[in-house]
Parts: sequence; structure tokens; C-alpha cells
Amino acid sequence: MLYEKTSTSPVNIAVIKYWGKRDTELILPTNSSISVTLSQDQLQSKTTIRASPKFTKTRLWLNNVEELNLSNNARLQNCLRATKKLRKEYEDQLSDEIGRDNVIPLSTYNLHICSENNFPTAAGLASSASGFACLVYTLSQLYELPISTTELSKIARQGSGSACRSLFGGFVNWQMGTKQDGSDSQALQIASSDHWPELEALICVVSDAKKSTSSTEGMQNTVKTSPLLQYRINNVVPERMKFMTDAILRKDFNKFAELTMKDSNQFHACCLDTFPPIFYLNDISRAIIRVITEYNNSTGKPGEYKAAYTFDAGPNAVIYALKQNIPDIINLISKYFPPSQNNLNYFSDPYNLFSNESEKI
Ligand code: DP6
Repeated sequence: MLYEKTSTSPVNIAVIKYWGKRDTELILPTNSSISVTLSQDQLQSKTTIRASPKFTKTRLWLNNVEELNLSNNARLQNCLRATKKLRKEYEDQLSDEIGRDNVIPLSTYNLHICSENNFPTAAGLASSASGFACLVYTLSQLYELPISTTELSKIARQGSGSACRSLFGGFVNWQMGTKQDGSDSQALQIASSDHWPELEALICVVSDAKKSTSSTEGMQNTVKTSPLLQYRINNVVPERMKFMTDAILRKDFNKFAELTMKDSNQFHACCLDTFPPIFYLNDISRAIIRVITEYNNSTGKPGEYKAAYTFDAGPNAVIYALKQNIPDIINLISKYFPPSQNNLNYFSDPYNLFSNESEKI
């Protein structure tokens, strides 16, 4: 007897960043966040899970390599425990309805989990978000759990905070919640992807190397040492959440772009304000910020933007823009950062980038 399910999950890129936990076990954030879920054409996680009474233990393969010591992986165990508990409750309910002999006791079976990303893992491209979303979603399918996506997001959150947002498409709000048990820290869809199909994301892979400071470790050092983070949590994010939601609902790209860039800047400022400081951006990332800033200045109208950059816990840039401007942006990026064989591209002097060229943009 073998039961099997496969599913895929998309990556999400935050426009109001999550950075900091108030509870590291339950993964409860210090602020709410908003993200855009990318289409699965380019970046996705794919997970197959098998359950069988013959499996002697639960095993996990990540990108074809077996992860040993699963018992030490608290986040994985939390997701498995939470979904198994729901399955057990469902089996009990079914038993009352159709008799125990007619219910498959999947909650008692060990699992073989096989998960892969079609993009670099742990390079600041939200691999843990799509990975845990995929794991939890596939489990819910295998176990046929009768629960809503928002309920499921509370379980994915315990795998990796940002994973709760990848369960929805389109534009997603992760409400930080206020309860200690995390029962109101959940993801909700602000609008589906159909709402704003003209919005596109361009991903510039500056480096696919694994990041030196993980998000998990980095954000807790920021919580412990950064006064700027406290200011951000209390004085900036609550208002920004409202303005960003409004900009998305009104499809106001200028406001969306301004808030996205400001929030990325403030997140990286908090990283710099951490002691010792965390550097996720490199010279190429900063040069990309300058290119996009000059490109936006070329409209000649303050407050009018054609592109918005954002960076997560790594040097790779995500550029949001309306579809009609994407070809121009690709031209610009490939002009200043011509592809090389070793990842992205380098040019000789990033600081002189605009000395002769800015008027041409
Ligand atoms: C910079 O969700 O990877 O991408 O909850 O510790 O697993 P853990 O962290 P993770 O952090 C993501 C941080 C970010 C911003 C964001 O996606 O909102």
C-alpha cells in the first residue's frame, strides 16, 4: 500500500519585509508583511510525499540529497506534527461516520519526502518560503485535510515565516497577529494575480552562492541589537501596510514602487544597524540601485517611477515594473551588467557607472 501526492509551490518576494521574530519557536513576527507571489514559470519548489505502512522511518531528500538527523530539524518536525494531528482528528471524524475499518490510518504511516527547487537554494531567492509552503500543501493534499488555506498558512509559518505567504497567489498579507499561541498570525490574500496582470518581476541573479548569514540567525541579531528595527516596527510598518494595501488595490504603481524601494532600503539599513553589522548587498546590488534610480529620474517628474528594486537577505535584485517597461529595463541591465560565465557579470568600475552615461538613460 503506497499513497503519494506531488505538488509545486511558487516563490514570493516581500514588498514590506518581515525581519524579526517575537517568538522563535512558533515563528511569530515582530511586524506584518506584504508580498507578491511570482508565477511558477521560472522559480518553483516541487515536492512528492509518499506514505506507506512499510516505511520504517520518515526520510527527506532535498535536491536529491538525503537530509539525515531529521529529528533535529525542529521546524520540519513542527510541520509534520501539526499536519499529522489534523489528519488524526479527521480520521476519528471519518471513523464515526463510516467505521474505523474503512479509514486509511495515514497519520500512523512514515513518510518519504522528496523536495527540489529549480533555482539556487538558500541564496536569498526565497527557497525556504516555497519549500515549506510546498511541503505543508502536499501534506494537506495527501491527508485530504478539510481546512482553509489561511489555516494551512499557520502551519507553513512554523516551517519558515515567509512560507505562509507562498500558499496564496497574487498579493498577500501576513498579519503578525497579537495572540501568544500564534492562532491569529496568518496569511490572507489581498488580491489575486488577475487583479494586476501588468505587474511583472525581473530577477537579477547577482550571486547564487549560499548566503553567509541566514535570515533566521540574522534577524534575531537585529532584534537584539538594532534600535532602528524598533523604530521601524512601531513607527513605520503599521502605516506602510495600509498604504501598500491601498496602492495594490488601486493598482497605483508609483506608490507601490516608492514604498517597495523605501522598505527594502530600511530593511537593509536595519541589517547595517545590527551589531555586528550584516551586509547582504554587494557592489553589484548597489550599482543596480543606482541604475534603477537614474532610470526613474529620467521621467523628469518627481514621484513618478518606472521600476522598483527590492532585495531580500542576499545580493540578488528583484525589479518590479509594469509590463511595457520591462524590455527597456532588460536592455539597461544587460548593458551595464553584461552576462559572464560566472554567475552575473561584473564591470570594471561600478562607482563610475554614471560618470559619462547618465544623460543617456
Ligand atoms: C528578507 O522566512 O527565510 O526574505 O522565518 O527564519 O525562516 P525564517 O525566515 P525567512 O525570512 C525572510 C526574510 C526576508 C523578508 C521577507 O520575505 O519578508
